[in-house]
Order: sequence, then structure tokens, then C-alpha cells
Amino acid sequence: MVSRETDRVRLAKPDVGADELAAVAEVLETGMLTMGPRVAEFEEELARACGTRHAVAVANGTAALHVAVLALGLQPGDEVIVPAYTFPATGNVLLLSGLKPVLVDVDPETMNLDPAQLKIGPRTKAILGVHLFGRPMRVEELPDGVPFLEDAAGALGARRRGRPCGSLGVEACFSFHPRKIVTTGEGGAVTTDSDRLAELARRLRNHGWRDLASADMPAAGLNYRLSDLLCAIGTPQLRRLDELLAARTRIAAGYAERLRDLPVTLPAADEGDVHGWQAYVIQVDRRDDILAALRGQGIEAQIGTFALHLLAPYRDQGFCPGAERAFERSLALPFHTQLTESELDRVAEALDKLVSDH
Ligand SMILES: Cc1ncc(COP(=O)(O)O)c(C=O)c1O
Repeated sequence: MVSRETDRVRLAKPDVGADELAAVAEVLETGMLTMGPRVAEFEEELARACGTRHAVAVANGTAALHVAVLALGLQPGDEVIVPAYTFPATGNVLLLSGLKPVLVDVDPETMNLDPAQLKIGPRTKAILGVHLFGRPMRVEELPDGVPFLEDAAGALGARRRGRPCGSLGVEACFSFHPRKIVTTGEGGAVTTDSDRLAELARRLRNHGWRDLASADMPAAGLNYRLSDLLCAIGTPQLRRLDELLAARTRIAAGYAERLRDLPVTLPAADEGDVHGWQAYVIQVDRRDDILAALRGQGIEAQIGTFALHLLAPYRDQGFCPGAERAFERSLALPFHTQLTESELDRVAEALDKLVSDH
């Protein structure tokens, strides 16, 4: 019993091995650690996976959001709609770009932005929607005429009605943090079909320079580059994306089968969609007690994500009951491709006992 409790069930575990190690060794041998050929290779694979003309690799998902928002060229004070339940970076990049994030509540069931609650005003210049935890949002319910940006941080591999997330808006942003299906440790990317926006994103990530060779800097930029070393880690995973998604789908199904009779809400995509399974986030009453108890048993669970209106920079935005409910009830279970059947049993049995105990 003691050894079982010290044997932790990990929240996340990257699916990397010999291919990634060899790719990193190769980059080290070339001595070209950044802005070399591995970046372009990684970008090509990502653009292929998303079915977009361009992918621009950047330092992380937050940088991707920042670059994508800056590339739109909005004016100070312009309003951009964001879901009230999301990772804070979705709203933070707007604040730090001098824009006004306008929170729209989420559907507490899907935990995605609820298009029925959208209020488009004269200053609304864009909608920054999120495919939260990899569940594709209902993009066709968004109004025409307002540019749509995808926060697809956790939606690589996901599809809405057959179309890849990452290709559904004017620009999309990905994260390659270790809890994502493809990880580079830290990393991100912007995908787009627009030659103009891709060019702007490339400049913004590299101090504003137009290309690597010239000193031509039409406007200020940042250093948000992703190194060749990190791109080399990501490319073999991108090449195995279907396999990685199949493995995550299998783990999700393993949970669904074990948890289906418990009084919890299980995650799912809409009929006909492909879930990206960034995380397996259930909803449960008494979430904090259950989270603490799971952790006490060596099961690395986590909260889902944040209700922005409860965080200091967004407290002026009123009450968002859907986000608050999702924030209070969501529980991310250990989720990665190497979870064993016995680990799934252990998590399910622990949950069963905790929800029945009450
Ligand atoms: C929805 C969402 N947006 C943005 C981010 C930021 O990505 P990163 O951690 O790579 O900066 C995350 C990270 O988890 C996320 O879940």
C-alpha cells in the first residue's frame, strides 16, 4: 500500500524518445542552434498538419498570441472578445497590447465560448476564441464580419466538422508546452493562410527585421524565436501526430469507460468533430476536496483553468456564471500516452470512492 502511494501517477509525460534525442544531437553537431534549417522544417510540418499556407514558430504559446494580436494592427482601446474561462494568457496579451479584452461567458457544459452570448459593439475588432482543452469550438456560430483568431494552444490535431483547428480563423496560435500533444519543452506557433500576416509574424518574432540577411526593420519587433534545438524535438512528434492523437483518444476512451456511471461530467467533442485531447478535464462537485484527496494518494490531478473575471486585471468585467461554474468544478486528470491500464484503474477507483463517499 505504501509503495503504491509513493508511486505517483503523473499528470503529463511527453511522448519523446530516440528520434528526438538523435535530432537534438544532430543540431548540436552542426553548431547552428537557432534560425537554422530545423525551424523551417518544423514550420512546414505544422502547416501541413493544419492545412495552412504558413506556420511561424515562436518561443511559446503566449508569444504566439502576442504576435498574432500585434499583427492585426489594432488601435489602442479597441475591443477584442475572449471567453471568460481560459488560460490567462488569452486575455493578458490583449491587455499588454493596449487593447480591451471583453469577456464573454462560456457554456458550462462545453466550457467553450458561448456564441449565443456574444455582444458585438462598435469597438469590437476581433474575436479571440479558444478550443479549450482541445475541444473544437462552434466556429460557424460566430458572426460574419468580425475577424476570428483561434487560441488553438491545445487543439493541434483537433477538427471542427472535418476542418483542422488552426485553419479556422485569420490566424491561430499553438503552444508546445509539455502538457500539449506535441511538445518542444517551451514553444509556440502562429498559423495562417495570409501571406501578409505570416510576414508580419516573422518580423515580429525577430526584432522587426524583414529577413535574416538584411538590416531592413520597418517596425519594432521582439525576440520570440524558437531555437533549432527545440524545433528538432518537435518535428518527429509532428510526423507522428496521427499516432499521438490516436493514443490520447484511446486514453480518453479508457477514462470514459471507467467513469461513465459516476456523477461527473465527462469531456467530449460535438458529434462528428475530432477532439484534440490536450487534457482530460471532467467536472465534479466538491472539486477542491477531491483534488486534494487525489493528490494525497499520489495522483497528480490539477484544476482545469481559470475564470478570468475572478483575476485582478479582469475584475471590472462583471459576473460570468458559466465560467465560475466551470472554474469551480473542473478537474484535469492525469493524461498522457504512457498511462497504463492499471493507472487508469487506480485513478477511476480513487474517484469512484471520493464521489461516493459524500
Ligand atoms: C488556452 C491556452 N492559451 C494559451 C496558453 C499559453 O501557452 P504557453 O504556456 O505555451 O505560453 C495556454 C497554455 O497552456 C493555453 O492553455
